[in-house]
Amino acid sequence: MHLPSFLWLWKIAAWSMGLSLAVYALLAASGLWVLIRRPGGRSGRALRRLHLGAGVALVGLTSLLLGIGVVGTLGRFGSLGHSPHLGSGLFVVALVATSAWTARQMLRGRRWAKPLHLGAGSLLLVGFAAVLATGWQVVQKYLPP
Ligand code: HEM
Ligand code: HEM
Repeated sequence: MHLPSFLWLWKIAAWSMGLSLAVYALLAASGLWVLIRRPGGRSGRALRRLHLGAGVALVGLTSLLLGIGVVGTLGRFGSLGHSPHLGSGLFVVALVATSAWTARQMLRGRRWAKPLHLGAGSLLLVGFAAVLATGWQVVQKYLPP
């Protein structure tokens, strides 16, 4: 396919990534608030619902980004694995999946899931930084000179 026809796809990727970072900030803030302040009552329930909703949004955004990345790369090259961006992308997807899975376990009362949830959430910051840096690098190939 012709180069410029692909640029819009990477633009969606860049916007979804911006949204993902905002949602991540919301998750970190609401999660830490629950962890440290342990709010009860109605405001506590509202905060936990916000955290859960933001988590579902992050799962959606990450899946969208994975889809765009794979479809775009296959469309352009016919194969995957052209840069470290693939590894960092899969790393982020795995961490978000771990976050969601441990969240489910926590809601079922499994206490071992909490440290895993916190670990995955913290590592996700590193993952996002890596995927952003490598994605930014690789997007230069598609920009008009
Ligand atoms: C897939 C995304 C996520 C989902 C679905 C999710 C869901 C949940 C759920 C259901 C809880 C238990 C809340 C409760 O006590 O009822 C929780 C707790 C928590 N989450 Fe997340 N979360 C996600 C991502 C994150 C991320 C990225 C972070 C950190 C940056 C984070 C930090 C926390 C913290 C600190 C707690 C508090 C644990 C506690 O003290 O009870 N979460 N999360
Ligand atoms: C959670 C975030 C993201 C995930 C999970 C993700 C995932 C992927 C994956 C799996 C690929 C295929 C890579 C390959 O096989 O070589 C890809 C390609 C690509 N992604 Fe991402 N991506 C993310 C964020 C971004 C961002 C923020 C940008 C741009 C700033 C971006 C730009 C690109 C570009 C340009 C390609 C084509 C790769 C190439 O030409 O070698 N991605 N992405």
